[in-house]
Amino acid sequence: MQEVYGLITGGAGYIGSHVVKLLGESGYKTVTYDNLSTGNKDSVLYGEFVEGDLADLETLDGVFKKYKIGYVIHFAASIIVPESVEDPMKYYQNNTQNSANLINMCIKHNVNNFIFSSTAATYGLGDGNPDGVDEKCLPLPINPYGRSKLMTEWMLEDVANITPDFNYIALRYFNVSGADLDGKIGQMSEKSTLLINVALQTALGNREQLEIFGTDYDTPDGTCIRDYIHVVDLAQAHLDALKYLEKNPQSHILNCGYGRGASVKEVVKAVKELLKIDFKAVESPRRAGDPPVLISKAEKIGEVIGWKPKHDNLTKIIESAYNWQKAKN
Ligand SMILES: NC(=O)c1ccc[n+]([C@@H]2O[C@H](COP(=O)([O-])OP(=O)(O)OC[C@H]3O[C@@H](n4cnc5c(N)ncnc54)[C@H](O)[C@@H]3O)[C@@H](O)[C@H]2O)c1
Repeated sequence: MQEVYGLITGGAGYIGSHVVKLLGESGYKTVTYDNLSTGNKDSVLYGEFVEGDLADLETLDGVFKKYKIGYVIHFAASIIVPESVEDPMKYYQNNTQNSANLINMCIKHNVNNFIFSSTAATYGLGDGNPDGVDEKCLPLPINPYGRSKLMTEWMLEDVANITPDFNYIALRYFNVSGADLDGKIGQMSEKSTLLINVALQTALGNREQLEIFGTDYDTPDGTCIRDYIHVVDLAQAHLDALKYLEKNPQSHILNCGYGRGASVKEVVKAVKELLKIDFKAVESPRRAGDPPVLISKAEKIGEVIGWKPKHDNLTKIIESAYNWQKAKN
């Protein structure tokens, strides 16, 4: 019998590479499909690798023909919110149109299990509930990045509605941070905009200063509050989602966060305290497209797919990212 593979788009990127590692360690066969625009081939520690772009239908079709694809996990995307405000069509092309290409391929090749990297950015400003935003909140994204991802959720929902065997889980990640606990992979990009990485790179002298974008938000210390989730816990959520889909023909949208937040200033302080290094953090104007507070309501994912996070601790998250940055330096 032909072996079944998971197609992992964007598997050479930050989050995808952690999921590929976990799937590999758990005995799953994978094919990573990545154009290496921001990813790195060395981060793909398991399975097959095909360098290709989701806009290249011939190469993509070739992968579906060569391997018996049993499920897709779709990470590949452009992910920088301010860039999406400056260049919206890049985001509708890479995130929405290319997702349509991939979903069409799934329909053509009868691949019925689909896990999608969605985002808290679909909520926009959320519903103002200080306990966090839950999945019932009407999504109203406030930037092209969030809209481009929400459109993909809608495509998946519409396809699932008319295709009895097609099921998807859209995981709405909050702020993903940290690195592999074995220190083998982590966020590679020197241009990373993720706060914890920027803080660590500044502490290690790779950047001159850290900018705090906006100190006049309606939050206790005036800076934005986010729900930081360890990438290792997030990887586990994908494995749990996959196991769920293998047994249950049902689609869901699930938040991935811990249900508590930290402000930019709190993160900067935590990095300084852990590393015992003082670095330059300057106050800058607000960035376009940043909501003041985004915290997840985190119950549903546990109830539906049984996800139980193990690394819900900001210091541990920073420590794992630090170990990775240090090893890379
Ligand atoms: N990092 C976060 O905090 C966060 C939060 C919410 C959602 N997400 C979502 O998670 C997913 C992964 O994010 P990440 O942080 O790992 O980003 P990343 O940039 O590290 O990974 C994206 C990967 O996709 C590849 N890629 C991009 N466009 C492609 C294309 N057209 N064809 C083939 N490959 C392509 C890149 O080379 C890269 O390897 C994205 O879909 C993003 O929207 C991330």
